[in-house]
Amino acid sequence: MQSTSLQGADAVPRHVAIIMDGNGRWAEARGMIRVRGHQAGARAVTAAITEAVRLGIKTLTLFAFSSENWKRPRAEVSALMQLLSESIKRESKALHDNGVRVRVIGEKSALAPALQKQIAEVEELTAGNTRLKLNIALNYGGKWDIVQACRALAHKIQTGELTPADISEESFHNELALTEDVDLLIRTGGEMRISNFLLWQCAYSEFYVTKTLWPDFDGAALDAAIAFYQRRERRFGMTSSQLRKDKDGV
Ligand code: IPE
Ligand code: IPE
Ligand code: MG
Repeated sequence: MQSTSLQGADAVPRHVAIIMDGNGRWAEARGMIRVRGHQAGARAVTAAITEAVRLGIKTLTLFAFSSENWKRPRAEVSALMQLLSESIKRESKALHDNGVRVRVIGEKSALAPALQKQIAEVEELTAGNTRLKLNIALNYGGKWDIVQACRALAHKIQTGELTPADISEESFHNELALTEDVDLLIRTGGEMRISNFLLWQCAYSEFYVTKTLWPDFDGAALDAAIAFYQRRERRFGMTSSQLRKDKDGV
């Protein structure tokens, strides 16, 4: 559940989630087609993972394709799917060699069978790695996640494994596709919205929105986001003076 343990001002967030937005605008500003922006965005993903490993971030969750992104023009959707597949193929070995454990979260059954197979392969290859947990949100929606958790609990009640009284924040949380709360949520591209990303898991996240478009987001940009996080006071409902006392061990 939500940890109320307080982090020192210099603590690196354990779990960083990123809404990687702005690829289309990046391309359009250069007179290029949107797909070129997605290609440039894929390179920025590699840079972010490298920097996350260097900083000692434990979990990085990247929003790659939302449950709403199917509404885009068909050509853009298929280019994105192609790019995702190529990226997994190209990066699997390096991710594995760097101790990254890859998981894909989202409604995978709606993806092409070949992509599902690739996902299963990279998840299996990297399952034993512990340096960085990398979650790729693909066909993911926060509402979908909540509904599938409800369904899982309902099923356990139907089979007699649980009773309605067993439904708690904790048992619900444990059925989500991602069971780690987000410490820092980053959104590139300047929009101040969550776009159906991790609704439950962001209940107490710090939000960092930057106008930088995703293809321009490099290691130094991630460092700036972390520095912002380190200046925040995470109160979890308490008062500042309570936190200060806590810190001084009073
Ligand atoms: C984010 O960039 C990538 C995906 C949603 C897949 P966009 O494609 O949304 O870029 P903008 O917001 O149109 O600039
Ligand atoms: C959010 O970006 C989804 C991803 C980054 C994958 P969108 O560009 O789809 O979000 P909206 O439509 O501006 O809210
Ligand atoms: Mg966008």
